[in-house]
Amino acid sequence: SSSSDVELRSPVICIMGHVDTGKTKLLDKIRKTNVQEGEAGGITQQIGATFFPDIALQEQTKKVGTDFELEVPGVLIIDTPGHESFNNLRMRGSSLADLAILVIDIMHGLEPQTVESLELLKKRKCPFIIALNKIDILYEWNSKPYTSIQEALERQEQSVRDEFQTRFQNVVLQLNERGLNCNLYWENDDFRTAVSIVPTSALTGEGVPDLLYMILKLTQDLMADKLEVQEELECTVIEVKNIEGLGTTVDVVLLNGTLREGDQIVLAGLGGPIVTTIRALLTPQPMKEMRVKRLCLMCVSPKNEYVTHKQISTSMGIKISAPGLEDAVAGTELLVVGPDDDIEELKEDESIL
Ligand code: GTP
Ligand code: NA
Ligand code: MG
Repeated sequence: SSSSDVELRSPVICIMGHVDTGKTKLLDKIRKTNVQEGEAGGITQQIGATFFPDIALQEQTKKVGTDFELEVPGVLIIDTPGHESFNNLRMRGSSLADLAILVIDIMHGLEPQTVESLELLKKRKCPFIIALNKIDILYEWNSKPYTSIQEALERQEQSVRDEFQTRFQNVVLQLNERGLNCNLYWENDDFRTAVSIVPTSALTGEGVPDLLYMILKLTQDLMADKLEVQEELECTVIEVKNIEGLGTTVDVVLLNGTLREGDQIVLAGLGGPIVTTIRALLTPQPMKEMRVKRLCLMCVSPKNEYVTHKQISTSMGIKISAPGLEDAVAGTELLVVGPDDDIEELKEDESIL
């Protein structure tokens, strides 16, 4: 391990892909796997994201790599909807993620929003891995819940392994045609030039330990520098939403730094920069399910659905309540006015334009 004394933050992972490929179910499975195996401790539902602490990841990664050492405090996973009308959410997710998981249905191969997601990831230079999901649908698949994928494939009859190979090769060919070099993750000897494919089943949990292992391995091994905890604020607005009892709020992902109740903030608005003061920092009540998609469709939420915080640091999904957010614009940065900052200067910062 790189036993340095630098503190790393949790990597932010975004799940993308065509509608119904199993993005949400995969996330549910990661959660459930941990609950079933008694490692649920500390998994928290956040605004538009789920936080999985190291304790919840340790047992799963052990199934894949015995000498693997966790160096990050956890991972923050953002789910995005696959429906074509949610392009804006996919765009924001991919622009703030350290790594993305592109989910492809093994029975369907590349679909329109798979291709759109690929283009977005390329444009944002966001590294990603592919979850080739729904392997349990292969004819006569013999499943054993939550096992690693290599173990699961070895368990299959030859005919099942043949069908897997055929479908897998077909997807690889489609990806090659888009100029993408890729390989099964355990056969991939250069993570920088070839995209790793992890076959999964969100139904049985097979391959789910491998997916977690790969997320951690890639972020820790290839992005440690980027994950060093910074004091300086790095905070992106992902949604602007009207909430009954709270008025207009903004949902943010805080990558680095600290937000405090009472902080004066600057963020982008339709009619120019907005300067306001944080009235409340909110996260969902523990165990309440909140997803980006559901929030879009159901904007009414009673106030007591949230817990308030005096301050929050690094890798968190947070709802901010503040006056004057009606015209706030999603997709840009949020700045805090420090004691030595000039508000007029911050209003001209390119990160909020
Ligand atoms: P959107 O959010 O609408 O884009 O879809 P999604 O990608 O989140 O898909 P979701 O998780 O909602 O799953 C869609 C359907 O596929 C559901 O009926 C799931 O039960 C099913 N499904 C997802 N993953 C698997 C899998 O690995 N195997 C099987 N057999 N079914 C799956
Ligand atoms: Na769906
Ligand atoms: Mg979904």
